[in-house]
Amino acid sequence: MSADKTAKLSLNGKSYDLPMMSPVMGPDVVDIRKLYDEADVFTYDPGFTSTASCKSAITYIDGDKGELLYRGYPIEQLAAESTHLEVCYLLLYGELPTKDQMDDFKTRITRHTMVHEQMHYFFRGFRRDSHPMATMVGVVGAMSAFYHDSLDITDPWQREVAAMRMIAKLPTIAAMAYKYSVGQPFVYPKNSLSYAGNFLHMCFAVPTEDYVVNPVLEKAMDRIMMLHADHEQNASTSTVRLAGSSGANPFACIAAGIACLWGPAHGGANQACLEMLREIGTVDRIPEYIAKAKDKNSGFRLMGFGHRVYKNFDPRATVMKESADEVLDLLGIHKNPTLQVAKELERIALSDEYFISKKLYPNVDFYSGIILDAMGFSTSMFTPIFAISRTVGWISQWKEMIGENGKIGRPRQLYVGPKKRDYVDLRHR
Ligand code: CMC
Repeated sequence: MSADKTAKLSLNGKSYDLPMMSPVMGPDVVDIRKLYDEADVFTYDPGFTSTASCKSAITYIDGDKGELLYRGYPIEQLAAESTHLEVCYLLLYGELPTKDQMDDFKTRITRHTMVHEQMHYFFRGFRRDSHPMATMVGVVGAMSAFYHDSLDITDPWQREVAAMRMIAKLPTIAAMAYKYSVGQPFVYPKNSLSYAGNFLHMCFAVPTEDYVVNPVLEKAMDRIMMLHADHEQNASTSTVRLAGSSGANPFACIAAGIACLWGPAHGGANQACLEMLREIGTVDRIPEYIAKAKDKNSGFRLMGFGHRVYKNFDPRATVMKESADEVLDLLGIHKNPTLQVAKELERIALSDEYFISKKLYPNVDFYSGIILDAMGFSTSMFTPIFAISRTVGWISQWKEMIGENGKIGRPRQLYVGPKKRDYVDLRHR
């Protein structure tokens, strides 16, 4: 990264030199850190559409090219050749592991898959009909009450243990939230299974029958996890970083990320998308919904379409679409009405001038919901699965932040409220 260029800002008859920073890839960045001190102005950028909030060496996205790289490796290559656990290693430590490193990492993760037995009672405090995301926000936040020996963020060993615990236990917690919501007994993790296979086992096994993990579904689940593993400074990751910047413990930070992810504009879109497809119901009703999506006053958006960064296509969606075809073939689901609506909606939206001109393409959530539905997950589990997958990204970004910068995140504002005024006693109002 070099800082040999400057940008000039002319303000109230004065000129300011702003240093420029050049990234390894992507647009140059104007460094405005001294602007307030020197020029007494703030910058305004709600939604952070033009603001780099940090330096990061983890994930790179080129939205125009539809490119996503984890530590430099294209997502398509990782999806074809790698596994989610290997990608976890890559995101956390920066390089692909050797065989010994991978074996050691697998052992470390596997040995942390069980949760503290007392947590079972904690789950029982929730209503049975709680959304699994609500349960997860609570239980992950409460991990800080169960694992006191990994809360000291100044100790690299404790940070590492907290990271292992969260990557290992999030699938267990999500599966427990699911089992609790359907009134079935919790299923303990089975360490002989893969990361994805174990998750399917904990969700679908029951004590009365043997459950054999189907390798096609296992691979599809692994891919869903890998494709969602990190996505640079998205809303939930930025939330984790902001929470972490105050020195909050890692479990609290990840709980904050989960809460943010739940929103329908972010991770909640996969659930919202499938519910929308079901609400549309039949192909003949699609034009009505397309018209609603184009009508600004309707407040309705086509869920699973559009992305802040991808303006060409979402490379995760391309891989996910292939996986969806494999899973639907395996399960022999071709005449499912939801699927027919999805395919026709995709076709119409991709040829409609409104969606073309605004560069609105199906995103990863459009296809992930279809696969998860076919696998037998309730829609309420879609976002928890996104949360399990993104945990490694959140932790990698949190670790990077802790290692680099001691500054608390604290944006400024453009104040538009009342000017200073005097309090009026209740009797005189
Ligand atoms: N349906 C209809 N119109 C849309 C949609 C949509 N899904 N998305 C954007 N638009 C329109 C929007 O009305 C606006 O029109 P105009 O320029 O005339 O005002 C224009 O496209 C740009 O939209 P924006 O809201 O300024 O774009 P954004 O970058 O702030 O929002 C988004 C990105 C993903 C929040 C948005 O596209 C959206 O709400 N999509 C549906 C929810 C969804 O699928 N989210 C999952 C994102 S991928 C998974 C993840 O990373 O979490």
